[in-house]
Amino acid sequence: MEIRLKKVTLEQTKTPPETLSGVVFGTVFSDHMFSMEWGEGKGWHSAQIKPYGALRLEPSSMVLHYAQMSFEGLKAYKIESGKHALFRPRENFERMNRTAQRMCLPELDTEEVLDALKQLLRLDSRWIPDEDGTSLYIRPVILATEEAIGLKVSSKYLFFIILSPVGPYYSQGFNPVNIMVSEKYIRAVPGGIGFAKTGGNYAASNLAEKEAKELGYSQVLWLDALERRYIEEVGSMNIFFVINDCVVTPMLTGSILPGITRKSVIELGKHWGLNVEERRVTIDEVLKGLENGSVTEVFGAGTAAVISPVGMLAYKGQDFQVGKGETGPVAIRFYKHLTGIQYGKKSDPFGWLELI
Ligand SMILES: Cc1ncc(COP(=O)(O)O)c(C=O)c1O
Repeated sequence: MEIRLKKVTLEQTKTPPETLSGVVFGTVFSDHMFSMEWGEGKGWHSAQIKPYGALRLEPSSMVLHYAQMSFEGLKAYKIESGKHALFRPRENFERMNRTAQRMCLPELDTEEVLDALKQLLRLDSRWIPDEDGTSLYIRPVILATEEAIGLKVSSKYLFFIILSPVGPYYSQGFNPVNIMVSEKYIRAVPGGIGFAKTGGNYAASNLAEKEAKELGYSQVLWLDALERRYIEEVGSMNIFFVINDCVVTPMLTGSILPGITRKSVIELGKHWGLNVEERRVTIDEVLKGLENGSVTEVFGAGTAAVISPVGMLAYKGQDFQVGKGETGPVAIRFYKHLTGIQYGKKSDPFGWLELI
């Protein structure tokens, strides 16, 4: 793929924040972005790296009406050796292609787009922060851009990648969060788009998240749509339980996002010889287990937060404390090991790091 390069001028050049403490996640953007367009008979074309800036979209652009889109989230790190690296980036572009199939979007050439991302990152490498716990969050997006409001599959698309230096996802840092189980709302249905990383899933989640926050909980734990018994995932993370020393996570049923951190936790846990199970988990099993002590830890796993211990689950107006409400040893072990690999501090037997 040939990429046209238009760099920022001296006046347009921005200064990365000196520190990311106090900077809200995903609110600062680097100097440049990557973009390309797709048209019928042309495929992907007009690839360019250009100054970060506003898109030119007609108000009739199809994505603004019918939400035909996909996005991804991955991170670049400054690693121990002083080099820069990505964590399992192919997994994100492969997931984006699975989302693309479901949302009738054109697929990407994983290697070409990864190469474009690396070129963008090399140009904006001074935006990859090196403070502890920080990284450069990468947001690839595909949008339907045909200017027509008749309902159909778009014939034009825009793909872009923007970069945002970020600190830890939760302002509390690596400390337990309190989560509310949603009984009233559901996120995804069988046969729907739950497994896809597309804006509609998040728009559908907002009200529950807002109500949970008003009650003092930081996120929502979703149950299955049909029986409201089976645990699915959290707003932006997959969920894990330590039950009788076994690491358990809900199996992928089509309404859960197949997280790359989830996959990494499962692979790492098995590599360590832990019992790891992907199966259906009911809310009753977990709440009973919290009461009788068989459930000793609950933690979320996702790119933004990496591992996020859960200190309390609220269900039907009742709070259920997890253990002593403190971060447990299994969550700590996964957090230390995953971040150790991501920052090049621990050996990477799986080849998860991709140098930029
Ligand atoms: C709904 C949802 N579940 C799970 C995850 C975790 O996925 P990953 O580990 O690939 O970031 C995310 C974040 O991307 C998410 O938005």
